[in-house]
Amino acid sequence: MSKKNVAVIPGDGIGPEVIGATLKVLEKVAPNTFEFHEVAMGGNAIDKYGEPLPAESLKICQNAEATLLGAVGGPKWDNQPPEKRPERGLLGVRSGLEVFANIRPAKIFAPLASACPLRKDIAEKGIDFIIVRELTGGIYFGKHEAFKTPEGERAARDVMEYSEHEIRRIAHVAFKMAMGRRKIVTSIDKANILTSSRLWREIVEEVAKEYPEVKLNHLYVDNASMQLIRVPSEFDVIVTENTFGDILSDEASQIIGSIGMIPSASLGEGNRGLYEPIHGSAPDIAGQNKANPIGTILCGAMMLRYSFNMNAEADKIENAVDEVLKAGLRTPDIYTEGTKLITGSQMRDEIISRL
Ligand code: IPM
Ligand code: MG
Repeated sequence: MSKKNVAVIPGDGIGPEVIGATLKVLEKVAPNTFEFHEVAMGGNAIDKYGEPLPAESLKICQNAEATLLGAVGGPKWDNQPPEKRPERGLLGVRSGLEVFANIRPAKIFAPLASACPLRKDIAEKGIDFIIVRELTGGIYFGKHEAFKTPEGERAARDVMEYSEHEIRRIAHVAFKMAMGRRKIVTSIDKANILTSSRLWREIVEEVAKEYPEVKLNHLYVDNASMQLIRVPSEFDVIVTENTFGDILSDEASQIIGSIGMIPSASLGEGNRGLYEPIHGSAPDIAGQNKANPIGTILCGAMMLRYSFNMNAEADKIENAVDEVLKAGLRTPDIYTEGTKLITGSQMRDEIISRL
């Protein structure tokens, strides 16, 4: 039987550590199933090839059934011109793979309840929502421009643009997801100010008519950022544009305890997916064996589920993560008094030993 083709982008900072852990987990849960093709993207690609996303790297990802990505970026490349920053490589992979729907689950793991900074009575109601973030449109992909005003002052603009089909397809992803859950969609926008948000709202309402069982709410993004902290248990599926989703998913990560815990799946029309944790490259702790590999390991589980339909193996990984947390083992980011502090590689091995 031919092996499944997976492109792997370790990236920069802690990226290689958390990816290394994940490949070991995948090999254990499904031996001899995958052929991993490692590719350069991000700061490491800039150093080696002079550009963040060499054409060959993108081609390997496009030919793969799934791409696993660690994280990219770091202070070393902060002064690169915009076109040559590591993050540009990341946006290039997302758009090159046409993965417009970024799914970011935020779920409180029961053993981590004490790491949740919210009041106990709020956390106890349970937190389990999914952010469906539009990933290949909006301001991150609009025109970016630095210019001089007629008076000679420095100015800059970034354009936020959405077309109907971009909103429609992401809305469908959210409603379909809600049908398999608690059937509530919250669409987040800034329709009191932004024209692109008014279009967003209009299209989401049109799509909602095809899902009469799903309850649709709308929230302005500023209000949503409050409600996520005030009543997180009330959210089921959140659908929002690229930038709002970027910001709100970082907020979500703190609500559930750590940004090191959240995986994400980016999907397009078919089964091909891009899987990356929502955290960054954390250069401050890179190479110190402190990084929590769980977010990326859970990406491996999402990949098994969404790209390869290997649900039993995905369950095994998620259960092993649960077991490790129940056993009180913690990397520094999720450590609280009374639990046992371990390194990133110990976390990896503890998860593998429970598979
Ligand atoms: C994320 C990250 C990226 C994004 C950055 C690194 C470009 O913050 O995946 O959330 O904004 O999408
Ligand atoms: Mg982000």
